[in-house]
Amino acid sequence: MKYGYFDDKAREYVITRPDTPLPWINYIGCQGYFGILSATGGGYSYYRDARLRRLTRGRYNNVPADFGGRYVYVRDNASGDYWSPSWMPTQSDLEDYSCRHGMGYSTISAKRSGIRTATRYFVPLDETLEIWQTTVTNERLTPADVSIFSSVEFCLWEANDDATNYQRNLSTGQVEVEDEVIYHKTEYRERRNHFAWFSCSESLAGFDTQRESFLGPWRGWNKPVAVEEGRSRNSIAYGWSPMGSHHVKLTLAPGESRQIIYVLGYHENPNEQKFDPPGSQTVNKTTVKPIIAKYRDAKNVEAAFAALGKHWDELLGVYQVASPDEHANRMVNIWNAYQCMATFNMSRSASSFETGIGRGLGFRDSNQDLLGFVHMVPSRARERILDLSATQLASGGAYHQYQPLTKKGNNDIGGDFNDDPHWLIIGVAAYLKETGDFSILDEPVVFDNQPGTEVPLYEHLRRSIQYALDRLGPHGLPLIGRADWNDCLNLNCFSDTPGQSFQTSTSKDGKVAESVFIGALMVLSARELSALASQVGKADDAAFYADVAKTMDETVRTQGWDGEWFVRAFDDFGRKIGSKENEEGKIFIESQGFAALAGIGLDDGKARSALDAVRKHLATPHGIVLQQPAYSRYYIEYGEISTYPPGYKENAGIFCHNNPWVVIGEVMLGNGDAAFDYYSRISPSVREGISDVHRLEPYVYAQMIAGRDAPTHGEAKNSWLTGTAAWNYYAITQWILGIRPEYTGLRIAPVVPERWPSFTASRVFRGVTYDISVKRTGAGNTVSLIVDGKPVDGDIVPPPAKGVKTVKVEALLG
Ligand code: GLC
Ligand code: GLC
Repeated sequence: MKYGYFDDKAREYVITRPDTPLPWINYIGCQGYFGILSATGGGYSYYRDARLRRLTRGRYNNVPADFGGRYVYVRDNASGDYWSPSWMPTQSDLEDYSCRHGMGYSTISAKRSGIRTATRYFVPLDETLEIWQTTVTNERLTPADVSIFSSVEFCLWEANDDATNYQRNLSTGQVEVEDEVIYHKTEYRERRNHFAWFSCSESLAGFDTQRESFLGPWRGWNKPVAVEEGRSRNSIAYGWSPMGSHHVKLTLAPGESRQIIYVLGYHENPNEQKFDPPGSQTVNKTTVKPIIAKYRDAKNVEAAFAALGKHWDELLGVYQVASPDEHANRMVNIWNAYQCMATFNMSRSASSFETGIGRGLGFRDSNQDLLGFVHMVPSRARERILDLSATQLASGGAYHQYQPLTKKGNNDIGGDFNDDPHWLIIGVAAYLKETGDFSILDEPVVFDNQPGTEVPLYEHLRRSIQYALDRLGPHGLPLIGRADWNDCLNLNCFSDTPGQSFQTSTSKDGKVAESVFIGALMVLSARELSALASQVGKADDAAFYADVAKTMDETVRTQGWDGEWFVRAFDDFGRKIGSKENEEGKIFIESQGFAALAGIGLDDGKARSALDAVRKHLATPHGIVLQQPAYSRYYIEYGEISTYPPGYKENAGIFCHNNPWVVIGEVMLGNGDAAFDYYSRISPSVREGISDVHRLEPYVYAQMIAGRDAPTHGEAKNSWLTGTAAWNYYAITQWILGIRPEYTGLRIAPVVPERWPSFTASRVFRGVTYDISVKRTGAGNTVSLIVDGKPVDGDIVPPPAKGVKTVKVEALLG
């Protein structure tokens, strides 16, 4: 069953009924100002940091989860009937409801009693504001007299404080209303130099800034008294709950349309110029007024919207494919790339499943996100790499997270996740292969954000490996620390205290428990560092890291081999995890997928055997589960993994993030059919047809799909902010389609299904557009290249002569 359809031409998903199984959201904003927007108008906005600079409120454990947002109300002044064109919050019957989620915008429209309303929400590029364009059309044969009310509820900036510190906050709220613009300025009088503003292009019949006046006592957002009576209170908030609402009255002739433009913005003033006149307590509006004036003009709004569309043309234009598979095309060309932008921007901070007050930017997460993002805006990837590495410690370890606003490592969570440092190398290697910008390696970067500790970025990468070499365990494998990629494999924790964090508590000295997964990851990271070192002429380093990779490869294949598949880890007693010797958790996906991806055991049959075991024990029609059998009880020596009920999250859920490791593994083994089959099993677009089972957005990946042990097998959770986005994008674009940036050029090495006769793609790489056409001449994966009409040896298209901007590549596959 479906709740809408893909409109690929418009690059939109069109939701045709508002009662989707769960809120289906989109993000507006792609640089500094962001908003979450559900198909029923729910969600909130923030500037840079969902916790520290929250503009509008989101309530925790809300029902429905997206409740509270950017609600527009329409009132028919003749009958007194009123409704929400986004269905929520009044839930009135609507005709022709639709929500079109597009690239950085959403348009929600509906009709009732002959009045059609459509609101398009978006954030212009390079601005710290959002625009709502509400078009009201009278489709009746008679004139209509309507009232339109906007509404937002302001958050008092620090979202955690806003949600908890009522005794103070209910007294601090402050607003100003000037020239019909509502200014929210709570705490501006003392330590803040930022405020929010909410404007409307039409002259007002009234406004409200105090929630209680707008809603009325004992009422909710579903029946605000101001809307019910068609009369705003012109209230000014003193404490309590500041909000913004504009009331516009329209008289529309039959067929007439009118547009109202609302703008919600964030603005900062220099500290010395906060007040006007100086010495007063009135917000200085000198620099914000021109912005407000600009977006009262529909022409400027249309131009801003067109610029946003062009921006996305460019971003998505870097990689476009036309393959025989409509789902793969749609995901590669539109939605998967789009999701990679969201994960790059948001990391794991704010979604329907991340509250915005929990996690900042994760070290491992953000480095992996680069794999799916770096080709779109390399300059932002560069900045991110430097920010991440500045939170690395001199030991080579890293803060597990940092706050995007301050860019400082988060002390509450600290470090000691022993996989973290390796991901920096993988992120940097992806950046270098994409851009060829080796200058980044010489950038001076501090440790632990401490001025004076600068060393070149290259040295940070060396420390990443040194950190692992300094922490090898009894089998010569890397010690796991607090956890590796699997945050829930807490082998040094032994927690029996309610509420204790599995991620940060440790009861053991950590000198025994080892991770085979980190071993495999280290083979890859050391090999990448070796390749990178030889690119910059550091032959000794290149040899050293090649040797590190070789030794670890051997260790994984000997110490980490269980007979048919790779062991997952060794616990604090030195016992195997993920072995036939275990009663539960006999086989795990991570060590199989990552070993194959890292090229371990390709020649001696171990990789093939491991992936065959994955197929036999872990694969389901909905994707590949994390381990089997699921843990049926709490294992204190394993930690959080065994706290989830069987089939959910890390306890045998289909953790979509690691499925593409197996996909890439199958590619490494030359098995295009299996790779594409696994890829398709978790593809959101493929799963659209079972939206009633999947339940979350069919246009983006979710972190998890309930595994076969779960009563709700096939049901997705944690959509949007997941490493799944980058990894699947990387797996399909670089491995299955095989168009892969390398130091020496663009590699064309597709491993596609045998049934595909051909495909074409276009890829912009280091300023050159490659028009690629791949044709099958036989069943294999051997590539013969013809570049601009001339045969080329091997499968790498070398960079063209200076000044050449397009290159034609024909690849014969057989
Ligand atoms: C979450 C975390 C990620 C971790 C994964 C597996 O997605 O963000 O860092 O690797 O869970 O535990
Ligand atoms: C929990 C989740 C895991 C996530 C972690 C973040 O352990 O199961 O997916 O990475 O929390 O702290």
